Amino acid sequence: MANPAVCRGEFDQRLKGCQCLMGLRNVNSMLASKHDTSFRETYTHLPVFVTSSKGEESECVDTSSFATSYKGTDIMKAAKWYGQKDIRVENIPEPGAPKAGEVKIKVTWCGICGSDLHEYVAGPIFIPTKPHPLTGRQAPLTLGHEFSGTVVEVGAGVHSVRVGDLVAPDACQHCGECAACRSGHYNVCEKLAFTGLMADGAFAPYVNVPAELCYVLPANFNPQAAALIEPLATGFKAVRMAGTILGETAVVLGAGTIGLGTLMCAKAAGAAQVIVVEMSAARKKLAKECGADVVLDPKECDVVAEIKKLTNGSGADVSFECIGNKLTGPLAVEVIRNCGRAVIVGIFEEPSAFNFFSLSATDKVVIGTLAYTIADFAGVAKLLASGQLKAEPMITGRIKLDDIVDKGFEELLRNKDAHIKILVSPE
Ligand SMILES: NC(=O)c1ccc[n+]([C@@H]2O[C@H](COP(=O)([O-])OP(=O)(O)OC[C@H]3O[C@@H](n4cnc5c(N)ncnc54)[C@H](O)[C@@H]3O)[C@@H](O)[C@H]2O)c1
Ligand SMILES: [Zn+2]
Ligand SMILES: [Zn+2]
Repeated sequence: MANPAVCRGEFDQRLKGCQCLMGLRNVNSMLASKHDTSFRETYTHLPVFVTSSKGEESECVDTSSFATSYKGTDIMKAAKWYGQKDIRVENIPEPGAPKAGEVKIKVTWCGICGSDLHEYVAGPIFIPTKPHPLTGRQAPLTLGHEFSGTVVEVGAGVHSVRVGDLVAPDACQHCGECAACRSGHYNVCEKLAFTGLMADGAFAPYVNVPAELCYVLPANFNPQAAALIEPLATGFKAVRMAGTILGETAVVLGAGTIGLGTLMCAKAAGAAQVIVVEMSAARKKLAKECGADVVLDPKECDVVAEIKKLTNGSGADVSFECIGNKLTGPLAVEVIRNCGRAVIVGIFEEPSAFNFFSLSATDKVVIGTLAYTIADFAGVAKLLASGQLKAEPMITGRIKLDDIVDKGFEELLRNKDAHIKILVSPE
């Protein structure tokens, strides 16, 4: 059996100059590989000391807690949702080797989504409080679903993705067996589980996800733009659901991440005129930068009357509701012409008062859309590469994982209009 003094010295040697997390990683791999089980079990009570980059030595963690629970596992930091206003950056075991059909990804950037903010303020909304039927996961779990990263390990049977690939993962984990999955519409799988909401996500240095959901990007693709493929894919799919909009007038209600993405996709799809309806000054400006032909503010004008004026009195050909407010749902139908289409993207907290006569009297069509499939990721990636979609104006903050609560979630609450997408680096 090893001598405690020697081992403590060895800890110190290996940890000198390391950051806390790296220190834990080193200690753990040392426990896992070099030493035998008796070593690990004998010294789990030893506190681990690390030397910070400033040269101060401090006690980092009591190994008895992590070593007994995570024997032989590397430790990483992750932002986990525990409850309303309770997201904790804490040390958790790094995901192990990916299972068959999965890959392990080293995360580069991960965006904070409006739905993450909803979970922070009013959750649990999507986060399961009992084991999810597909993933078996429940709170507390690691958030983060809008991300890019590099594949570092592949599980058995994975051929579509290779170690070293830069990928943008589609977040729609699905069963592959239900009627929706079998017809190719896995985005509405009966057991749908979003990565980072119903399975552990990417506000962490590593995450394991199904390989089939990884869209492989060219190696020189900007990894920050790659993290925006997921939210942009929602707008891309919304436009796809509208059918051809070539030469048409489209109205986009709301200029948040989803509305701006929908606006740019509508322009790329050949809309002749895109009218954006938005109230926030910062976002009205961004809508213009992203290509809006007209921006209407409902606080300053009668939106329906203005849209009629801009469309020879008839109404727009198509509308996209990207707000999720009980009043703007019906408005999306009101602003379109007879036989027009209203695509509903918003997620609604409250029901709307809606008279279906406004459909049966007009041949108007209302279309729902949830998420995307990986084909939409391919489309978005190509439009980003060609410059028809722009990620840069949408990135309003870049922060580190340690700062995710104050400079991420709280900043979005304090200053929501000034931000579109805050990206988080796990480094
Ligand atoms: N269907 C899907 O797959 C899907 C995916 C992601 C997000 N969403 C939903 O899409 C909606 C938009 O998401 P987001 O992240 O862009 O949200 P967001 O809150 O950033 O954007 C909404 C925008 O609407 C504006 N707005 C609010 N009320 C308005 C009003 N009455 N008139 C005009 N403008 C108004 C706000 O100023 C804001 O800029 C949300 O409901 C979200 O939950 C849906
Ligand atoms: Zn999202
Ligand atoms: Zn399914």
